[in-house]
Amino acid sequence: MNFLNKAPGFYFIVMMCCIGLYRCHDTIDSPGVADVDLTHIPYQPIPYLPDIPTGFPALEQPVDNPMTIDGIRLGRKLFYDPILSIDSTISCSSCHQQPKSFTDQLDFSPGVSGNTHRSSISLLNVAFQYHGFFWDGRAATLELQALQPIENVIEMGESWENVETKLRRNSGYQSDFRKAFGIESASMINRDLATKAISQFERTIISGGNTRYDRFVRGEIFLNDNETNGYLMFFNVDPVLPDAQCGHCHTAPLFGTTDYFNNGLQESADLEGFADKGLGAITGKASDNGKFKTPTLRNLVFTAPYMHDGRFTTIQQVVEHYTSGGKFSPNKSAFLNNLHLTESQKSDLISFILTLTDSSVLTNPAYKNPF
Ligand code: HEC
Ligand code: HEC
Repeated sequence: MNFLNKAPGFYFIVMMCCIGLYRCHDTIDSPGVADVDLTHIPYQPIPYLPDIPTGFPALEQPVDNPMTIDGIRLGRKLFYDPILSIDSTISCSSCHQQPKSFTDQLDFSPGVSGNTHRSSISLLNVAFQYHGFFWDGRAATLELQALQPIENVIEMGESWENVETKLRRNSGYQSDFRKAFGIESASMINRDLATKAISQFERTIISGGNTRYDRFVRGEIFLNDNETNGYLMFFNVDPVLPDAQCGHCHTAPLFGTTDYFNNGLQESADLEGFADKGLGAITGKASDNGKFKTPTLRNLVFTAPYMHDGRFTTIQQVVEHYTSGGKFSPNKSAFLNNLHLTESQKSDLISFILTLTDSSVLTNPAYKNPF
């Protein structure tokens, strides 16, 4: 009796369950498109062993995202593919261009809708960075960083949901994701795997062995007199020459650092007056306002303009800035003060910075557009 009384509701529930099951089975949120079984495609991951330059720190791959040949191949494709943007016009590589050492040489980068508010950052040696990404450090890992540009309204303006749908329907990507991650069906393609693959590719962008500086450190060559003077000032290793202070923050061998600093770009009477608060806007600490990530100085000659807002167009202007000690604000680093460098000392400092040039990165076929 009871059962019969409840029958209509019961049948309704059964019907809803069936629809639910059907929808799940039906893969991808679009009715009528069946899921694609990928188990016939071989999954034989081959670990990728990165070539780490002498003297570099260990490359700590995340335990849940070890680098493989197929993972990197997929990541490189995604990095160059504009279908990750809403109108198929912008890819990661639009703003991180190999011939420009993975920047775009602009102060602000055009995306699908307007310009970014900060300058694009070189991706050189991101594999060795464990202290946050972006100028303000708002992404803890590369995997988390790669989530953001897609849904950034200015940059790529797309939703991850749509990107997932586009990738799931693409037979090339179905097989690429299978080979990279061993997924069993197309519906298992998702943002988690896509950002893992992109990060694997980014971790291969390593530069360190080929510069005059590195060869000098390995004892293979001597620097010339100007470069040597610059080196001595940069790292303050000569008691007679002035300390240019650079080496405190731009530490070897990466020439970036694990810390964030206020290097005197923005003038402010108090801690609240910075136009761009940088790290402070993320941590919520007033003492972090006006602090930014210390970028690498490797390949600087290819990455102008400089600083988070691209305010300096030449290395000379950068050196003038540091020589002057920068603009006042309460938390400006104590390393920023009038350096009293002569004109020839400034030019020696620049000669040294230019020993950090590795043009092989710009033409390395492993980083090129695969399409
Ligand atoms: C429209 C231009 C644009 C696009 C497209 C773009 N980026 Fe960027 N990227 C930037 C800018 C600008 C920054 C710095 C932004 C900031 O710090 O607030 C940045 C920062 C980064 C950083 C941080 C580097 C560091 O040392 O902290 C990484 C990594 C990165 N982008 C990777 C990517 C990836 C991967 C994609 C594609 C999924 C992508 N970018 C798409 C412009 C772009
Ligand atoms: C107190 C730490 C500190 C010291 C000292 C320092 N820097 Fe920096 N440097 C930074 C930070 C932080 C940034 C990023 C600032 C920003 O964009 O807001 C930066 C940015 C740069 C950039 C821009 C790089 C790019 O890709 O945009 C150059 C070039 C540079 N520094 C060169 C030097 C030189 C040369 C010296 C020595 C004369 C020096 N720095 C001393 C912390 C420091």
